[in-house]
Amino acid sequence: MSASERITLIQPDDWHLHVRDAPYIASVLPATLRCYRRAIIMPNLHPPVTTVAAAAAYRARIMSAVPAGIDFEPLMTLYLSDSFDVAEIRRAKESGFVHAVKLYPKGIAHKAQPGVSDIEVTFPTLEAMEKHAFPLLVHAESTDNNVDPFDREAKFVETTLGRIISRFPGLRVVVEHISTREAVDFVLAAGFNVAATVTPQHLLLNRGALFESGIRPHHYCIPLLKREEHRRAVLKAITSGSRKFFLGTDSAPHAKHLKESACGCPGIYSAHASLELYAMAFEDAHAIHHLEAFASLNGPDFYRLPRNTSTVTLEKKCWKLPAEIQYGDGEILIPLFADRTLPWRLAT
Ligand code: NCD
Ligand code: ZN
Ligand code: ZN
Repeated sequence: MSASERITLIQPDDWHLHVRDAPYIASVLPATLRCYRRAIIMPNLHPPVTTVAAAAAYRARIMSAVPAGIDFEPLMTLYLSDSFDVAEIRRAKESGFVHAVKLYPKGIAHKAQPGVSDIEVTFPTLEAMEKHAFPLLVHAESTDNNVDPFDREAKFVETTLGRIISRFPGLRVVVEHISTREAVDFVLAAGFNVAATVTPQHLLLNRGALFESGIRPHHYCIPLLKREEHRRAVLKAITSGSRKFFLGTDSAPHAKHLKESACGCPGIYSAHASLELYAMAFEDAHAIHHLEAFASLNGPDFYRLPRNTSTVTLEKKCWKLPAEIQYGDGEILIPLFADRTLPWRLAT
């Protein structure tokens, strides 16, 4: 096998992951353990993880699904809401296992989740986070119904994110799952304290994938897939050599029946093949040499965590993805690129 058919990378981490809760953790976590050593675990459970104590309990439930001998570290996060207790920031910093706070605007995704109604309400928390150099992870989409769904990221970036950064210029911010040229430009123009995660679907698909000979609920996620020009802008950002962009799958499992519904949930499950999907995107952009920085270096550097020392190898070897995956007790999941053949495969 020639060098171009085999790539060895420092072991990657996933900087944006949803593993849900028992009994689902056990169905989805093995796919992440296959190749990532750490993952930022999103706190949007029902109810969300709002305290360090709740994060410790959730962490223990995740660790109980990690087989002995596997070196995996869940990096926990707290869910920001209007009633968030600012004292949690100091506890989080001291905990050693909580690594960030996640901001979801109120009304995004699940209507039942609290979220943040007005960014000003969170200013005391953001001030404490800036002081403790504690990262804020942002679902950067406007929830204003007058804003077109495809413009919600651009709108939020321009208004709210701009306000946060000018008020707290030292705050460390990750703009999650970026999908537009506007978000790329914002991150590039900001200081080194502002970075972004990128999902496989926003690199591989444009919004046409939502309507391929019919409506495609398994391509529905938020932020929505965008026009081709935006996909190209995001691809250009990650293949530019900039250190500000890193891997965050946003693998977000929902049972098939909840997506194939009159009111389907947003979220794409990609953990089963995410690294291979990223390799495909980088190769298509003739930039496979940038994959290691994106997957394994830029994330730990931003989070001020050590880089991993172990490695993983990808090889040029076609494999067929499953059409469905068992999920919890008797439910199923439809994974991204279900039943399709991929050119890269993780070597065992
Ligand atoms: C995520 C989920 O299902 O938890 N869905 C999604 O479409 N991205 C929520 C999120 O990451 O905002
Ligand atoms: Zn989100
Ligand atoms: Zn997410």
